[in-house]
Amino acid sequence: MKISRIFLLLMILMILAQSLGCSASPTFAPQQQTDSPTPKKTYADVIIGYAQLGAESEWRAANTQSIKETAEQLEIELRFLDAQQKQEKQIEAVRKLIIQKVDVIGLSPIVETGWEEVFQEAKDAGIPIILVDRRAAVPEDLYVTYLGSDFLEEGRNAARVMAEMMNGQAKIVELVGTINSAPANDRYAGFREILKDYPGMEIIASESGDFTRARGKEVMKTFLNKYGSSITAVYAHNDDMALGAITAIEEYGLRPGVDIKIVSVDAARGAFEAMIAGKLNATVECNPLLGPQFFELALKVVNGEDVPKWVPSEESIFFPEDAAEILPTRKY
Ligand code: AHR
Repeated sequence: MKISRIFLLLMILMILAQSLGCSASPTFAPQQQTDSPTPKKTYADVIIGYAQLGAESEWRAANTQSIKETAEQLEIELRFLDAQQKQEKQIEAVRKLIIQKVDVIGLSPIVETGWEEVFQEAKDAGIPIILVDRRAAVPEDLYVTYLGSDFLEEGRNAARVMAEMMNGQAKIVELVGTINSAPANDRYAGFREILKDYPGMEIIASESGDFTRARGKEVMKTFLNKYGSSITAVYAHNDDMALGAITAIEEYGLRPGVDIKIVSVDAARGAFEAMIAGKLNATVECNPLLGPQFFELALKVVNGEDVPKWVPSEESIFFPEDAAEILPTRKY
């Protein structure tokens, strides 16, 4: 009698426990998924803003084309603004894109400094910034990644090439890019870093030609008027200024590429044509075709994926002997 009562009590307790969802023996039924993953965004879902700095060179034209063409191919809604070579306009462009609530802002900062305030505004609005082509001197938390070249190495390469070409003896004039821009700062510093080991390589003058052909010609003219045929080499921070210098040298009555050797940076088509004509002695590549990598990075950022803080471009150096063969393959 006692045993059957105990048994009955146990049965009641088990039924009660089951109805309350408890179980005497543990079960391993799979947990119900409550947080289903948010679907990834595609190119069709995003609006990308781009604040381009201007249209100062052949390089920049290729860079802009690469961004616009890639957006079209991928059917991305692109809001593209051109700052016409002015930092105030580029800051204004970033602010316009913030108001338009784009998903990501891409930007090639015209100069390195003066960006903290507007980058902070973008951050506060939850809009990530991707630096394309040029760096900005801001704390790392104000941009997600930098996609572009190693300008310092470009300057070093230009110096290595020139030192070899001149057998370590030269009177150099330098055409500097836009003052306070990342490529001008780094190409200036990288060049000097290597020249330290070549006491016979002397920089006799250095001035900005603002990365344009017209200014390159003008500045070269003033160098020639001052130093004449004592100049033996030109280091131009980009091809456009080198092409301007070539015209100035010819007008002065000297032979560019022969009487005065010239090394520049970019490796644009114009530089290849000048090398084929024997007027330019080398060009260090700086790749402007950044559109595909930019949009790929932008989509990753929108989807919360990790991206490296710097995505460097792969670059080479070109010389006159290979120019004719390579020119047809150049895309810019
Ligand atoms: O920032 C890249 C530089 O800008 C290129 O070397 C030059 O041609 C351009 O204007």
